[in-house]
Amino acid sequence: MTVNITAEEMAKQRGFIEKCAEINSRRETPPTAHVHTFGCQQNVSDGEKIKGMLAEMGCGFSDIPEGADIIIFNTCAVRENAEDRVFGNLGALKHEKRRNPDVIIGVCGCMVQQEHIVKKIKRSFPHVDLVFGTNALHTLPELIYGQLTERKREFYVPEGDGVIAEGLPIRRENALKVSIPIMYGCNNFCTYCIVPYVRGRERSRSTEDILAEARTAIQSGAKELLLLGQNVNSYGKELGTSFPELLRAVNAIDGEFRICYMSSHPKDATRELIDTISECGKVTRHFHLPVQSGSSRILGLMNRHYTREDYIKIVEYIRERIPDAALTSDIIVGFPGETREDFEETLSLIREVRFDSLYTFIYSPRKGTKAAEMPDPVSAEEKGGWFRELLDVQGDIGRGLYEKYVGQTLRVLCEGEGRTDPSLLTGKTPQDVIVDFDGDRSLIGGFVNVKIERAYQWALVGKIV
Ligand code: SAH
Ligand code: SF4
Ligand code: F3S
Repeated sequence: MTVNITAEEMAKQRGFIEKCAEINSRRETPPTAHVHTFGCQQNVSDGEKIKGMLAEMGCGFSDIPEGADIIIFNTCAVRENAEDRVFGNLGALKHEKRRNPDVIIGVCGCMVQQEHIVKKIKRSFPHVDLVFGTNALHTLPELIYGQLTERKREFYVPEGDGVIAEGLPIRRENALKVSIPIMYGCNNFCTYCIVPYVRGRERSRSTEDILAEARTAIQSGAKELLLLGQNVNSYGKELGTSFPELLRAVNAIDGEFRICYMSSHPKDATRELIDTISECGKVTRHFHLPVQSGSSRILGLMNRHYTREDYIKIVEYIRERIPDAALTSDIIVGFPGETREDFEETLSLIREVRFDSLYTFIYSPRKGTKAAEMPDPVSAEEKGGWFRELLDVQGDIGRGLYEKYVGQTLRVLCEGEGRTDPSLLTGKTPQDVIVDFDGDRSLIGGFVNVKIERAYQWALVGKIV
């Protein structure tokens, strides 16, 4: 099965980029575009391609929608509040359309892969000109050409399990830290999650395409590569390769840089993977391993394919092989049918594992998922109470956790000026912990050795040695 968009189709879209650039060059001033990405790194990466295509069509960019000629919302559907935020922002664009009827307003990303959302946009947001799905990203040039030549509303959300479009132009947000998708889609169907429905089936980019992009990024000065996928651990299954193999190949590229990756699913976090990471010096010493719940009963209902005990075994093996590794996780509170006892198992798990930090979410029902059909008797109020309790427990665990770094000398990627104190520099340790230190601005974009002198709850302070 081939999922790559053909070279002919990509060439056709390139033709539309040129036609749009020609139309835009006839204007007195170049058009400006505002691209707002909601959602995860995968969406941010898509946003970089949207901007890449628009830039080649001759667009400049603006951080605000007011006054822009093209406005694109690249949306996320993972929780209800993500969708609410998009609708709120979209409603506000009505005024902009009234002020400037020529503005092209487009909505893409995960939300518009859902029929009920497309219907709602059709009905309630008549100022939206263009809707295109996650599989239609590469057709943006043709869609924009359509808008520039004949103004009519267009909704293009092709059906199917998903595609891979190689060779799209990219306008990166950050030249130092570069995101590289290695696979798209998800086959796991965790019962709470909308992602498999809006991103299609798992499909991996070829190792050669990934390595070529990685090498180019390193040659252009990138110091951190973020390998992206909904479950990177299952990379390459259909290609006869694997994520550990890919990591080894990226690690072997010349130069000093760091390799990060996300997300990784505990069910596929094998010993082989952990061994590989321990042997690959460029791979981050940070495991983000979303556990979701500490109750094996709830993990079963979530369709996660591991138990609490399996998870703890993985953590033990990581700590045995890579003792300095940082460990973070995602937790969902209030999954349908979760009881106080289940929740207490989550509390006991986080006390046992002592995560460096947690991303915590209150369960949000997603239309079309299995969990949305399950009985959910616990009130929102009670779930809110559990959520605050979880934050308190993690707050206590987090306090003092960074003390262990005091006195250590760590290799730090210097990323820029300090966030709270611009007279300092800031960077990240191999464990992804923020550290501020004194130094010359010329160090930004390189690696330095920093001796840690003080630890706060969220960051370290040190001195270059
Ligand atoms: N593929 C990634 C997850 C992407 S979504 C992974 O498996 O790690 C990021 C996080 O959002 C998930 O780990 C989960 O904790 C949370 N999440 C997903 N769906 C949710 C829902 N319906 N309600 C609340 N949180 C959810
Ligand atoms: Fe969603 Fe589960 Fe896939 Fe992650 S692994 S994207 S949580 S279905
Ligand atoms: Fe959101 Fe889509 Fe990512 S639903 S979390 S933007 S894959």
